[in-house]
Amino acid sequence: MKILGTGSAFPKKTVTNDDLAQVMDTSDEWIRSRTGIERRHIAVEETTTSLAVEAARLAIDRAKVSVLDIDLIICATVSPDYIFPTLACEVQAAVGASRAAAFDIGAGCAGFLFALSTADAYFSTGKFHNALIIGAETLSKMMDWSDRSTCVLFGDGAGAAVVSAEGNQLLSMVQGSDGAGGMALKCNNRPVSNLYRQLGAQNYSYTEMDGSAVYKFAVRTVPMAVSEALEQAKTAVDDVALFILHQANRRIIEAVAKRLRQPLEKFAMNLQEYGNISAASVPALLDQVLREKRVKNGDRIVLAGFGAGLTWGACVLEMQVEE
Ligand code: UT7
Repeated sequence: MKILGTGSAFPKKTVTNDDLAQVMDTSDEWIRSRTGIERRHIAVEETTTSLAVEAARLAIDRAKVSVLDIDLIICATVSPDYIFPTLACEVQAAVGASRAAAFDIGAGCAGFLFALSTADAYFSTGKFHNALIIGAETLSKMMDWSDRSTCVLFGDGAGAAVVSAEGNQLLSMVQGSDGAGGMALKCNNRPVSNLYRQLGAQNYSYTEMDGSAVYKFAVRTVPMAVSEALEQAKTAVDDVALFILHQANRRIIEAVAKRLRQPLEKFAMNLQEYGNISAASVPALLDQVLREKRVKNGDRIVLAGFGAGLTWGACVLEMQVEE
């Protein structure tokens, strides 16, 4: 597998911690010290589809591939605009990739890692050659804005990558899930209600989280998954040039850095600007570090995601970039 191009997109509207403090019982000091988040981008005009399409178009342009050569589109999202059709099919129609098979996967904040791994598995059949993979979310619509313990943490955005079956950039991939812990981070769908079981009008359901359980899960699981991915890739942790972790919370990233005995400077971060954007965070941050030229040719980097499911994924990539 080789990454040919990446892109990202965010809503225009930014909302600072002080903006939130004006409408709910919170403070910049609480949010910043507990999470590192300073602001987030919140959709007003945008949708999950429009953000995904914008990120996809940038990735396709930079990859310099014809849309007709894209034969696979996989979107990772927990906040699609429709239950069906899938986000991937909406993106396919918008970019004109009419020869692609398109589908979504749901793996929470580890979604992009799962999408990357799925594309790799499709490539290994020999029948697929170029994939567009996307993480895109509008989590703001899934929040209970009267629940300060969740709504201040999340934001909206999208990240995309065009990957090809040529090349050997993906050195290892580790994935896992713990469904038994899943209720720590959930959002109900509509309950069964029909002619034979009438529940009447239902309110929408919103994101509910046991923050401390998710925190402990992340701090325990991410270093383990990263170490396993490094071992599979026969790469020493000190030889990793950059770590791109899911951007949930600065304290989680600091704890992972400490457990891996690595300096925090090797951990890219943009959660201060975007908050937690779930499946979009890893591809959007990958796009950012590539555009900032923080990655050199031959660098080994680690991507890691973790979240709802509970689910996690980590991989080691050997980067090929034009200097
Ligand atoms: O993609 C994965 C998604 N999830 C995560 O990454 C979440 C992981 N968990 C965390 O990052 C942390 O658990 C949080 C940041 C969510 C919470 O931090 P904490 O240090 O565990 O705080 P807490 O939940 O123990 O709450 C401490 C206090 C409580 O008040 P009392 O009961 O001690 O009086 C909360 O009511 O902080 C209060 N609180 C707030 N205060 C001001 C909760 N939310 C807020 C808020 N502003 N927004």
